[in-house]
Amino acid sequence: MEKHIILLPGDGIGREIIDSAKQVLTAIASEYNHRFTFEEHAIGGNAIDDYNTPLPDKTVDACSKADAILMGAVGGPKWDANPSHLRPEKGLLGIRKQLELFANLRPVKTISSLLYASPLKEEIVNQADMLIIRELTGGIYFGTPSERTPNGVVDTLRYTREEIERIVERGFEAARIRRKHLTSVDKANVLESSKLWREIVEDKSKEYPDVSVTHLLVDAAAMKLVTQPSFFDVIVTENLFGDILSDEASVLTGSLGMLPSASLRSDGLGLYEPVHGSAPDIAGKGIANPLAMILSAALMLEHSFGLVDEAKEIERAVNDCLLQGFHTADIHIPGGVQVGTKQMTEAVLENVTTKSISDSICKS
Ligand code: NAD
Ligand code: IPM
Ligand code: MN
Repeated sequence: MEKHIILLPGDGIGREIIDSAKQVLTAIASEYNHRFTFEEHAIGGNAIDDYNTPLPDKTVDACSKADAILMGAVGGPKWDANPSHLRPEKGLLGIRKQLELFANLRPVKTISSLLYASPLKEEIVNQADMLIIRELTGGIYFGTPSERTPNGVVDTLRYTREEIERIVERGFEAARIRRKHLTSVDKANVLESSKLWREIVEDKSKEYPDVSVTHLLVDAAAMKLVTQPSFFDVIVTENLFGDILSDEASVLTGSLGMLPSASLRSDGLGLYEPVHGSAPDIAGKGIANPLAMILSAALMLEHSFGLVDEAKEIERAVNDCLLQGFHTADIHIPGGVQVGTKQMTEAVLENVTTKSISDSICKS
């Protein structure tokens, strides 16, 4: 298979981890006889520095013609005081909106070797396995007006019926091929947008009698995520709630540095990026965890290219590394070996090209 992939390294640790994903994809390509070509473009703070915009037209053009897009992360203190149209985050929001990447999938799964890495008790995180589906191109992130007024400020939360319907449908479809339980998270006791959201979920549920539905208010959902995570199978929620809940859910896996994501358009075009940001506090130190980025590349293989075996191979290699005790500074594995970004990537590469050890270790 031949595929052309756009790389958007972005800022901070984004630049440090994107190469890890590229190396792993190159190893997979050679093992399975595929040809992946890569083309790098600017987005975020570096694009502001070089082109005076967080999202150059050239980047959007290249992304819209690509087979898939891999992104690192954007942002950093250097640009924090910029006016909003010149903030790195505007580049990311812009590419999501312009390419209509409305469905953001954020899988959260406890890995057995990381059970002790979470600050939560082992018996709570054990067997957590959920998919957070976050609406990505609507809601309060994009509503207008969003501005300072003479004596205050306004942000606008807006959703069309169609925008809600298409993401809710994604939720039901995903639940149908998983454990058939959909939790819809809203704030229907307060927000008009959430009342419509809940009505639409109820309507759609008639088309999916095999899927059971729970409605949770977002505050209660936040609590349940860390007290009873095994309750959740698929979560579907609006843009801002999904952003907040997914960082919270990362605690189940032991680190934000473990969570990948896929942002999809209805025709399958996808942008793949870690859930975490550019981590200015550790940028430049060579210690960032590259696994969320590498697992995002696996999601790309699965969702954009249909290469399920290859995606599984990456997941297996990541699992094997952790079973061997390799971990970056954000994760604690008792008796493990702490390594930097480069060595962690090498450990994954080593496992991509050698036979699985997971089975033998699990059986022994
Ligand atoms: P962050 O996700 O960058 O970092 C939060 C904490 O997690 C930090 O302590 C960081 O060191 C740690 N962390 C994150 N990823 C890690 C990794 N791979 N390995 C090890 N540790 C990791 O969030 P923040 O500090 O709130 O935001 C920093 C910047 O990133 C801001 O400018 C923000 O807007 C931006 N941001 C970008 C994205 C994105 O591009 N998708 C996502 C979130 C935040
Ligand atoms: C994310 C990030 C972004 C968001 C920011 C950087 C705009 O937090 O991808 O989760 O809020 O969507
Ligand atoms: Mn976020």
